[in-house]
Amino acid sequence: MDSRDSRVAGGTDAVTVKNVTVLETGTCDIETPSAPCAIVVIGACGDLARRKLLRALYRLFRNGGLPADFFIVGADLPDKTSREYRDLIKESLRELGGEDVLQKDWSNFASQIHYCTIDTETASPYAPVADFLSDTFKKQDMPGNRLFYLAVPPSRYADIVGDLGKASLAPEDNGFGGWSRVVIEKPFGHDLATAQQLNKSIQKFFREDQIFRIDHYLAKETVQNILMFRFANAIFEPVWNRRYIDHVQIMAAETLGVEHRGVYYEHAGVLRDMFQNHMLQLLAMIAMEPPSIFEADRVRDERIKVFRSLRPFPVDRLDDHLVLGQYAAGNGPKGEVPAYRDEPEVDNDSLTPTFAMVKVFVDNWRWHGVPFYLCSGKRMAEKTSEITIQFKEVPHLMFRKVLPETIRPNLLSIRVQPNERITMTFQAKSPGAKICLQPVRMNFHYASIHEGDLLDAYETVILDCLLGDHTLFVRQEGVELCWSFLSPILEACETCDNRRQALHLYRAGTWGPSRVEELMNRDGRSWHAARSQ
Ligand code: BG6
Repeated sequence: MDSRDSRVAGGTDAVTVKNVTVLETGTCDIETPSAPCAIVVIGACGDLARRKLLRALYRLFRNGGLPADFFIVGADLPDKTSREYRDLIKESLRELGGEDVLQKDWSNFASQIHYCTIDTETASPYAPVADFLSDTFKKQDMPGNRLFYLAVPPSRYADIVGDLGKASLAPEDNGFGGWSRVVIEKPFGHDLATAQQLNKSIQKFFREDQIFRIDHYLAKETVQNILMFRFANAIFEPVWNRRYIDHVQIMAAETLGVEHRGVYYEHAGVLRDMFQNHMLQLLAMIAMEPPSIFEADRVRDERIKVFRSLRPFPVDRLDDHLVLGQYAAGNGPKGEVPAYRDEPEVDNDSLTPTFAMVKVFVDNWRWHGVPFYLCSGKRMAEKTSEITIQFKEVPHLMFRKVLPETIRPNLLSIRVQPNERITMTFQAKSPGAKICLQPVRMNFHYASIHEGDLLDAYETVILDCLLGDHTLFVRQEGVELCWSFLSPILEACETCDNRRQALHLYRAGTWGPSRVEELMNRDGRSWHAARSQ
């Protein structure tokens, strides 16, 4: 069964879009930031800036997501003119495809892009940026609103923030007027101590409300929808607890390997790369209580309460709660791929995990005793991020005399990406004279209510920074609580005697080590998040 079969009776406003009946159509237009501003991209020639940020800015520009008065300053080490930088961006957009950079709006957009060379040999490397901003604000009669996006390796965050401070770019009372905000990418620190240290360095110059710590998973359309789904519908909340839910599986599988990020990844591994941030944030969205009002700080308070309720990890029973893996040679999206250990800049005897499954409990009234199985890996069979809520079995099997098979419990799956959708699986009678059941699915596909692309996570992030909305960003307290939870696990994994034996190799292009199934089976459950395609 799919949504074709599950139309709801529509009122006069109902329209049918593909297979879904949308009862009321509404616009959900971009909220255009009204305040004129400068967007300073630091690390402007790097991968993140070229592939993601400038593209996101261009798309926002085309869709009315940038203020009427804005300009972009690319700041980086290579010596370039603004014209050369614009050409570089144009070329990158061309390579990415999907954007017609030759349209007339490209030249309007490009005319707002400027470039400043940073000279780290001087006492104040960002003085040229400060001079440029000051001149342009004056010339264009703009207030000094400015956003600094640090698209650089994490090891440079503290120094760059210090340099912005030296150039008087951070404080809001520096004579420019207007606001000053800084965007910091993950990973925020390497562990609890370094995260605290980094925060101290940043807070010397920027207040907490000027800092936007990104977790791009929170900006994904479908992740935001979890809150709407849970709290704008009355029917789910009553069953969203330990009385009805058996367990939750949260999966983020990737087909990509470590690519050219060997140096970083060797240092991080999957637990720091995906769990400290994305996986725990997804867990918080599923487990949090409803805030009294949809406001940034209230929503963030509730997410933080979940982190505070995480049961300390039983490091003496790692086998029951954790599976670590590393990909061996196998298949990637375009054919054969090497093992992790044979990737560039990776130690050929590396014990860095590229896959992990962690069983987590949230110790509060709602979730007592409900395991959350979080799982993420590189070079897996498919790219998919999905959350599956498995409900409990029916309390009494009234069909047991006529039905040979057991009745499978209901599943609710939220597919975060790709092919975003929500699916409910339930039992229905198979047509015919005999009493037979079969599991059927009811699907809601995002594509059926939205033509074209959804807003990309980076577009959302930039837009929210310009609007000053912190809802999708992480507070320092959240960062620290996540590190506090994860640090004992990391320490246990990285210092245990049987580190080599505890790392299970899996063939690239599969769903990870079979050990995951074993752990789930021991718990009397099965692993289906990735197999419900
Ligand atoms: C990043 C990780 O934060 O998220 C990467 O550093 C990972 O290793 C990426 O590939 C996954 O993001 P997405 O949006 O592609 O699921």
